[in-house]
Amino acid sequence: MKILVVGSGGREHAMVWKLAQSPRVPELYCAPGNAGIESMATCVEIKADDVAGLQDFVVTEKIDLTVVGPEAPLALGIVDEFRKAKLKIFGPTKAAARLEASKIFSKNVMAQANIPTARAQSFDKAADALAYLDRHELPVVIKADGLAQGKGVIIATTREQARQAILDSMEKAVFGQAGKQVLIEQFLDGEELTLMAFTDGKTVAAMLPAQDHKRVGDGDTGLNTGGMGAYCPAPLGTPALREQVAREVLQPIVDIMVRLGSPFQGVLYAGLMVVKGTPYVLEFNARMGDPETQVVLPLLKTDFLEVIEAVVEHRLDQLAVEWHRAAAVCVVMTSGGYPGSYRTGKPIQGLPSVMTGSATVFHAGTARRGNAIVTAGGRVLGILGRGNTLADAQREAYRVVRSISFDGCHFRTDIAHRALGAQA
Ligand SMILES: Nc1ncnc2c1ncn2[C@@H]1O[C@H](COP(=O)(O)OP(=O)(O)O)[C@@H](O)[C@H]1O
Ligand SMILES: [Mg+2]
Repeated sequence: MKILVVGSGGREHAMVWKLAQSPRVPELYCAPGNAGIESMATCVEIKADDVAGLQDFVVTEKIDLTVVGPEAPLALGIVDEFRKAKLKIFGPTKAAARLEASKIFSKNVMAQANIPTARAQSFDKAADALAYLDRHELPVVIKADGLAQGKGVIIATTREQARQAILDSMEKAVFGQAGKQVLIEQFLDGEELTLMAFTDGKTVAAMLPAQDHKRVGDGDTGLNTGGMGAYCPAPLGTPALREQVAREVLQPIVDIMVRLGSPFQGVLYAGLMVVKGTPYVLEFNARMGDPETQVVLPLLKTDFLEVIEAVVEHRLDQLAVEWHRAAAVCVVMTSGGYPGSYRTGKPIQGLPSVMTGSATVFHAGTARRGNAIVTAGGRVLGILGRGNTLADAQREAYRVVRSISFDGCHFRTDIAHRALGAQA
């Protein structure tokens, strides 16, 4: 069986790595992939958002199944195009992916399904947004409606800051079309949690709860990033809370999407804020999270390929999706300066050629230059450690992190601190 994974980050490396463990031994391809993925899949130079190019490749190479990693091709309608051409693909249609691609659409769907979420109001005129802002309590959250690569949300502690965010988004169009409409949202004070689920449009199979670390510095300080690390299972996501979110959030969303004529198939990601034990939805994503995937997938006991096929063939109700009773911690190593400007092309030293113990190196922004592997992005590597407990997994991850280096390399020393307390 030939499988194509679309994307090039740590998430896609983890997906390819997991698929490579399938007893069915699929033949793996990745577009465009990276220097780490290369060791377990044939990488092809097609960009993740080149839907036509991907379709041509899949037809020519007779790929049996395509698995989409990032949001961009989903929002462009890759699933719709592939289905029209009778090609098997894992992911939601463009209409269903609006749960991620439009925060206003998502908010409206949540309201219709009675999902607990922060109170919000949408605007398409800056003057109206500014007038509403005058009456809003602080802090206040300003969100660009569309996909803004994780930069479209501003938590404003002053009215002037909020005003600026609204004007930047709606008038200066710093996010282009994606920011022409905004949500002004109530600030929720709590702890964040990620719960992802597989769904075939009808049945929901919740994954294990994870937590990521968005801030660049130890102790959750500094600028927001794409994610500096993650761990799973997050103790905040107790079995009872996981059940509650599956029942009160994930299943109702999947059900209402059917009633709206846009059934959702693939991975539904709920970004939650847990306020005094009560979960509220901050956002939905229409695909797996990065770096959460790097800690959640390693704990999946059922063959990932079986789960994907059950989703694509609408028979998830007939599959028991099982998880290991273990723990996983992933520490992201970044280029110096990230999330600001940084240099690439730095040779990476100390990459283990053979993994020992229960650690794994996932590549995110890497490239091959001759025999060397060099940095090629902001987030460079994700080091996964596994163990019976989070403490074991954390130790294992940092053991390998400390053996790898490159010029300007940065990482946080406290991934999983919310569960374990700070460490170094
Ligand atoms: N209503 C809110 N109250 C408090 N913090 C929020 C709220 N909405 C978003 N945030 C914070 O902003 C981050 C980004 O918001 P999110 O809705 O996840 O958008 P995106 O991931 O598309 O940037 C969240 O992870 C959370 O830390
Ligand atoms: Mg988010």
